[in-house]
Amino acid sequence: MNCDGRIITITSDSTPTPTPTPTPTPRRDADADDAMQFVRNLRRAPLGRLAAAGSAAAAAATLSSHADAEPLNLTKRGSVMVAPSDSITEVVIQARPVSQHIEEQQRELADSYADFSGDCSYEKALRALRSAFKLPSAELSRLSMHFRREAIKGLEGAPSSMQMIPTFVTKRVTGDEKGDFYALDLGGTNFRVLRLSLEGGGKVGAVKQAKFTISEATKTSDAAGLFGFLADSIATFLAKECGGNPSGDLGFTFSFPVTQTAINAGTLVMWNKGFTAAGVVDHDVVELLQTQLSSRGINLKVKALANDTVGTMEAAAYAYPDTTMGVILGTGTNAAYIEKGSKLGKWKGPPCDEMVINTEWGNLDMTSVRRARKFGGANSAARFGGATRAIRTDRTAPPRRTRQVMNATDHFIDGASTNPGKQTFEKMVSGMYLGEICRVAVLSPEVLSGFSAGCQAELRAAFAGSGALKSALMSAIEADDTAELSKAGAALAKAGVSSTTVRDRVLLREAAVNISSRAARLSAMGVASLLQLQEWDGAAGQPATVAVDGSVFELYPRFKERMEGGIAELLGVEAAKSVKLVLAKDGSGIGASIIAAVAE
Ligand code: GLC
Repeated sequence: MNCDGRIITITSDSTPTPTPTPTPTPRRDADADDAMQFVRNLRRAPLGRLAAAGSAAAAAATLSSHADAEPLNLTKRGSVMVAPSDSITEVVIQARPVSQHIEEQQRELADSYADFSGDCSYEKALRALRSAFKLPSAELSRLSMHFRREAIKGLEGAPSSMQMIPTFVTKRVTGDEKGDFYALDLGGTNFRVLRLSLEGGGKVGAVKQAKFTISEATKTSDAAGLFGFLADSIATFLAKECGGNPSGDLGFTFSFPVTQTAINAGTLVMWNKGFTAAGVVDHDVVELLQTQLSSRGINLKVKALANDTVGTMEAAAYAYPDTTMGVILGTGTNAAYIEKGSKLGKWKGPPCDEMVINTEWGNLDMTSVRRARKFGGANSAARFGGATRAIRTDRTAPPRRTRQVMNATDHFIDGASTNPGKQTFEKMVSGMYLGEICRVAVLSPEVLSGFSAGCQAELRAAFAGSGALKSALMSAIEADDTAELSKAGAALAKAGVSSTTVRDRVLLREAAVNISSRAARLSAMGVASLLQLQEWDGAAGQPATVAVDGSVFELYPRFKERMEGGIAELLGVEAAKSVKLVLAKDGSGIGASIIAAVAE
């Protein structure tokens, strides 16, 4: 970097992982000049000044670090992205994740529908969406610091939004554990009962399983109602699949925040994900289950109680012993990881070298995090009648230098939930909320007015009620690769919105992309922060296998790639190459059995 500190980021366009080759001397070739002219032209266009969300954040962060400017939307031209500057002194070629290409294409398509000569409601809608959901690199780093601070406080037992729960799991899985087990998995819409054999050598034998849908009435009933339903479902499974009433050991995956008091005991701290059954909080959930099993004469005994993140991690570790983290990105979100015993200030049990910690990252407090905002940022002069000077001295004008990472949509959703003020990170990331975020954002006046009149009316009618726009619809819209988004059109018509123009569909996809990109980048921030807490040595190529389960990770288009992009932004491209995000599908139940086997 030279004395004026300018860095130009040129991002390789053709390959996801080019070798970084710093060029020390100024480069003024025709290509770069040409590209700079292009960027200058672009700056004149209103959308060229839009804050970049998600994909362009790496470039934006590099820019804002030296120029303190609202990040530009650097549109690619040919094979380079170039920042406007008359004195390029250093060129850094930087890898750009595949996800960035896709998102740039989507962004360009959305921009191409802007019509600056006429009605600008579409541009306003785009601007509103991108600015509400943007999460540039600098903010991601700040969030990571916030995350690690909260996590450390949680480990020490100081007040923290992250509970960092010791799980009593102190031994690593070897893959050699054996035995026949039953497993239960409760945590979202379904309750699963399994019977399986651990065969050793990292192999799980035949698995029998049944799924039971939990009704809203059961979720919101009471302890006897909920645990009675679980026991009835187990009885049905045993009768159908196991020829009557066998005896055996159970691994119980219970995917809510539980303070464990033993490997097979723990009290519920609070409900989330729409569960509210009375008489469970502060009670031992194993005892509640065991009571209902005994009253039905069922001879299964809970040997291990585990969170789904812990189960997922242990299931993956059975085959891949270097797995050190388990993440759920489904109805809810959370992660577990292996931490050194010496860092567990609050642990009062027997000393241990290491222990699996259930972080409960879904409850990371996002209400108190503020994001940097340049005083008098984009459009502020226009907003305050061009009186930028006056604003600085006028005490009645809002002198906000920061604003919350949570936006108005997030606050609305939090306020309307069964647990306001809680699980605010989960409410920005998980499948239970993504569709709702999209619904509320699209129906906000500034976004809604960007749609054609017929579409506006249908959107209002079809998505009037809370929960009416499903995350699966967002996912279908983003998965569409047709030129006119015709598959998205069909999915929307099914949901009751049939009068869409191509531009309407592009705008809806823009909403989905911005919301899901933010969610993926927040998830990446959680993974990267935990790796840092683990003092993982990515620079030395230490492998890190992160087992992930959940419908958002498995099914949402490009979620994994976006996460990988976010991890690379936070940890560096080279180090990030050693991080493997692997799908550990339906592992959590099996993992609880493995924990039972390890506990033997
Ligand atoms: C919620 C629960 C947590 C669980 C996660 C994923 O965040 O509090 O325990 O792991 O959902 O199911």
